Amino acid sequence: MTPSGIASHDSASQPQGEQQRGGEAGPAPAGMPHPHPAPLAPTRAHRPVPDASVLTLEDPGPLLATGASADVYALDEEYVLRRYRNGHDAAREARILQHVAAHGFPVPTVFLSEGPNLLMERLHGPTLLQALAAGEIPIGEAAQVLVDLHTRLHAVPAAADEPCDEARWPFVASGPVVVHLDLHPGNVVLSDTRGPTLVDWANARAGSAELDVALTALILGEVAVDAGGDYSQAARALLAAFVVRSPVSPLDALTEATSTRRADPNLVTGESELVEDAAELIRDLIRVAH
Ligand SMILES: Nc1ncnc2c1ncn2[C@@H]1O[C@H](COP(=O)(O)OP(=O)(O)OP(=O)(O)O)[C@@H](O)[C@H]1O
Ligand SMILES: [Mg+2]
Repeated sequence: MTPSGIASHDSASQPQGEQQRGGEAGPAPAGMPHPHPAPLAPTRAHRPVPDASVLTLEDPGPLLATGASADVYALDEEYVLRRYRNGHDAAREARILQHVAAHGFPVPTVFLSEGPNLLMERLHGPTLLQALAAGEIPIGEAAQVLVDLHTRLHAVPAAADEPCDEARWPFVASGPVVVHLDLHPGNVVLSDTRGPTLVDWANARAGSAELDVALTALILGEVAVDAGGDYSQAARALLAAFVVRSPVSPLDALTEATSTRRADPNLVTGESELVEDAAELIRDLIRVAH
């Protein structure tokens, strides 16, 4: 079984080593639902941002990756269209992406959002998961990538108008900073221009750093305790390296994270049984580390 957080489809390959591409934003196209700060974009020559008509294309281009909830289509070398298959509205996600980008956090630039569609900068490079699987990055370095992304993200204050979305997250208290709540190697793209860049902001909201860190540990832990899983041993080593390096202890919000994870409707069959074992493994690893 492969836990939902790190799904096998994340290993879908992306073209690499391509020519330098741009992505600098032009003027915000009509249809942008919220005014947004100038996107942080690569400084290379670029093609014009596609207009809003691409959002409704039935066949926007080659499928670059398919996640549990969304399909990501390559429009060309510079732009992707991410589309929720269930029609879920991506506007809130677009707003959070723009908020963290304005604070210098590494995310793909968002150009347009409408309904389930997000028109974004295309990132080029493997996911951290792909890089780990290919032996292209040492475990310790990968753990540090996760730690650094957490640290940088939790320096971003939550937007003043960020709703708590309590119906969807009954166990999660609001908090002072932006949290991603799904920060794992399958959601980190090692971009050739931006460096480690975080995608998949479906769960992001206002929350506490402690919960975000505990959830990352729990997701890694689930893979580690899944004895038949492809990445079990590597995940255990990555988790051990992560808990040692993280300045925020995964123990501080482990109970809250466990409840949150068990209540996640996106868990694959059998995954919720792994959550308690994962929490136990985290406690063991921290005990040993100290
Ligand atoms: N801007 C982008 N440029 C290039 N590739 C991207 C971009 N955004 C996402 N991807 C690729 O698409 C994959 C799936 O995207 P994403 O994680 O957002 O979808 P999802 O359905 O929410 O996934 P999950 O299965 O984690 O729920 C990512 O792992 C990444 O490989
Ligand atoms: Mg994902």
